[in-house]
Amino acid sequence: MTLSLMRPELTAVPESPLVQIATLAESMPASIKLCYGESDLPTPAFITEAAHQAALEGHTFYTHTAGYRELRSAIAAKVRELHGAEYDESEIIVTVGASMAIYAAIRACIGPGDNAVIVSPAYAIYANAVTMCGGEPRFAPLRRSNAAYLLDLDRIDGAIDRNTRMLIVNSPSNPTGFMLSIDEQRDLVALAERANLRILADEVYERITYDVEAAPSFASVVENKGRLIVANSFSKTYCMTGWRLGWAQSGAEMIRAITTGVEFMTSNAAAPVQRAGIVALRDGEAWIAQLRAHLTAQRTQVLDALSGIDGVHVTAPSGSFFAFFTVEGVTDSAAFALRILRESGIALAPGSAFGPGGEPALRLCFASTERTIEESLDRLRRSLLPQR
Ligand SMILES: Cc1ncc(COP(=O)(O)O)c(C=O)c1O
Repeated sequence: MTLSLMRPELTAVPESPLVQIATLAESMPASIKLCYGESDLPTPAFITEAAHQAALEGHTFYTHTAGYRELRSAIAAKVRELHGAEYDESEIIVTVGASMAIYAAIRACIGPGDNAVIVSPAYAIYANAVTMCGGEPRFAPLRRSNAAYLLDLDRIDGAIDRNTRMLIVNSPSNPTGFMLSIDEQRDLVALAERANLRILADEVYERITYDVEAAPSFASVVENKGRLIVANSFSKTYCMTGWRLGWAQSGAEMIRAITTGVEFMTSNAAAPVQRAGIVALRDGEAWIAQLRAHLTAQRTQVLDALSGIDGVHVTAPSGSFFAFFTVEGVTDSAAFALRILRESGIALAPGSAFGPGGEPALRLCFASTERTIEESLDRLRRSLLPQR
């Protein structure tokens, strides 16, 4: 007799087209993996040392589920400094990466019969978390104009019905590099007020920007904090993907609900990692400036090379460390990414991994050393040239 006691909400989650690429790339020792959403720079030493020191000093016990008060207050100070928005400690929860913040926020708002509208192409966690909570993910793709992506309010409005509980938007965006303006954020907040929805704003790339110190945050726009949940992270800003540290900000009532979920899923983020987070926020601005200078150079290098190849269309990302480009004649991004990997050993993420609006683009993560990027671009150029 077969044992099929698994919930369909989980078994319904599709495997990402990225898995096949990543699995093959991992089995090819000489491959260069530009398919992941992380930098290959190590965590800066001042952060690693702070975690080490914290462990030696005895920060090795459970903390409050919502995290150390000092860390929540350091997060509040950073939000105030960057966006002029006031949050107190009861309006912030520290989580095991932004991933936990996103899942717990969706868990707090979505159940069977509900739907959430996701501005796409987007990171797969949103749709999958909505599905895992028994809800229906709906997509409102950005509009493409040449190689640029534009917000389409009508599409978002058209996807909303009386069962819509949440609008999920990521800015700066993975994978497109699209960044919402303050005015667009105001429009989305007005729409959310009208339709009585919550906005889940994923702002993990807020400091990975090129023309501004920080991307605009919904936090500076909403009047009713409970209308908004911001998910944010240390992963991208401080090259701390493996440490698993993030947070959510919202009204106190929503944070209490999220905290209940988190308490029985992960409990608190690791104590020494939280202490390191305090130091990252306090002393990290010089590091961020350095990271941004590095990424600016990589962005130029990648854009120059890609736009120099006939039939390749790309625009500069306003934020994040991705180039999301199309190649004339390519319609199936997963098949094409596989072909490129086999031919050139360069692993790219297929646009189809990011839902409606993602096809037929390819995502290249340029948060890597100059030499790696140069080598990758050389190999890619050779692989892409026959496309002409
Ligand atoms: C848009 C976006 N949100 C959230 C995450 C997850 O962040 P964390 O490492 O903090 O869980 C990622 C990671 O790739 C991401 O690209």
